[in-house]
Amino acid sequence: MKVLINLVFIYLYLICEVFSSYAPECSSCFSEGQRCMVLDTNSGSYKNGGECYNGLVCTAKNKGDDEKNWQCMKPIELNGNCSGENSCDIGLTCDPVEYKCLNSRFAQIGEKCSSVLDCSGTLSSCKNGICTVEPSGKCDDASDCEYGSTCSNNLCKPLGKQGEPCDNYKGTHCIYGLTCVTNSSTSGTCGALYSKPLGGTCSSDNDCNQSQNLYCSIKTNICEEYIEPQQPKTNCSLTQDSCDQFHECSCDGKCYQSSAFPTQVSQGIEPLVNCILKNKCTWVTNFFSSDSCMTKNCGSELCKYSGATIFDNALSCGNTHQSEKYCDSNSVSRVSSSIILLISSLIILIFYF
Ligand SMILES: *[C@@H]1O[C@H](CO)[C@@H](O)[C@H](O)[C@H]1NC(C)=O
Ligand SMILES: *[C@@H]1O[C@H](CO)[C@@H](O)[C@H](O)[C@H]1NC(C)=O
Ligand SMILES: *[C@@H]1O[C@H](CO)[C@@H](O)[C@H](O)[C@H]1NC(C)=O
Ligand SMILES: *[C@@H]1O[C@H](CO)[C@@H](O)[C@H](O)[C@H]1NC(C)=O
Repeated sequence: MKVLINLVFIYLYLICEVFSSYAPECSSCFSEGQRCMVLDTNSGSYKNGGECYNGLVCTAKNKGDDEKNWQCMKPIELNGNCSGENSCDIGLTCDPVEYKCLNSRFAQIGEKCSSVLDCSGTLSSCKNGICTVEPSGKCDDASDCEYGSTCSNNLCKPLGKQGEPCDNYKGTHCIYGLTCVTNSSTSGTCGALYSKPLGGTCSSDNDCNQSQNLYCSIKTNICEEYIEPQQPKTNCSLTQDSCDQFHECSCDGKCYQSSAFPTQVSQGIEPLVNCILKNKCTWVTNFFSSDSCMTKNCGSELCKYSGATIFDNALSCGNTHQSEKYCDSNSVSRVSSSIILLISSLIILIFYF
């Protein structure tokens, strides 16, 4: 059973992956047809051995191919045969029955559908052309539930409103757009994102007023003004954290930006968050479908967001973030996988924390 918290961990894992791709090793870069998985001698399992060059995905060529034979391939387009979830172009899902890339699973509860495949939730149904919750309130994940509630122990439960108690560790989350604000204890109350002033206590950057260039210092847990440090005089160290919390040490001995600065958040992310909230978009399986609430309503904000979060690291296999292409054609099919991962962090921010 897919529970919400598992998804959070999957996304967190993906985010760690994207950040680790900026450092600390020089990436191996693979071309089309090259194998991209390597044996991890510590765990005995296969892991991504580097990065595929721009636009390629590391995936099984044929359905059921062993992980060790996965290779860099062009993503499969609409209605093409696919081998598994990550082989389709962005905005498409690999249908688990027919193994075709389809534009499916994009609609949230209450949105129009022409077949049950359109609905994101696996337990929801398409009734009278509208995605509808399972009458008993059962759910597999949040997209089986109405806006403002989430799936907890396989039942839809309302999310916390302004001022209500919350505890992210216990799974009592706040409604989208609010965050669990804590002062010093571990439990907290649902309050506005980005609301703490200079000197306020914080547990994440999203607690601090980022439009005032504030971030949450991991050393003090206090909202402080962010000043970008100079490049270190000596090579940064891969083993010690010699760059600040917005940078990571890469294999050329330089610190590279690895997450958005506070002002980039306030310029790029806040407008997208506000648009998603205004349109009452919720998380859906195929978030990047051209028919999802987010892409339909917040396309231009998504472009601004992408523009604000392009990190400069020459060592990531020439994987530019391709946001220009995406924004010119206004087609989600050109968003690179790195952008997907960055947006996944945004999804966590809005929908879970
Ligand atoms: C997709 O698979 C089907 C059956 O497995 C095959 O008949 C068809 O030719 C394939 N299409 C493409 C474009 O490869
Ligand atoms: C946190 O502190 C602020 C004042 O510093 C207070 O207004 C607020 O109610 C406190 N919140 C909690 C959850 O204790
Ligand atoms: C952040 O600071 C700005 C400028 O002082 C202010 O206008 C805004 O309301 C603050 N944001 C929040 C969420 O408190
Ligand atoms: C810094 O790292 C680069 C790249 O690995 C290396 O060529 C250079 O010698 C290093 N410099 C110092 C001072 O260690």
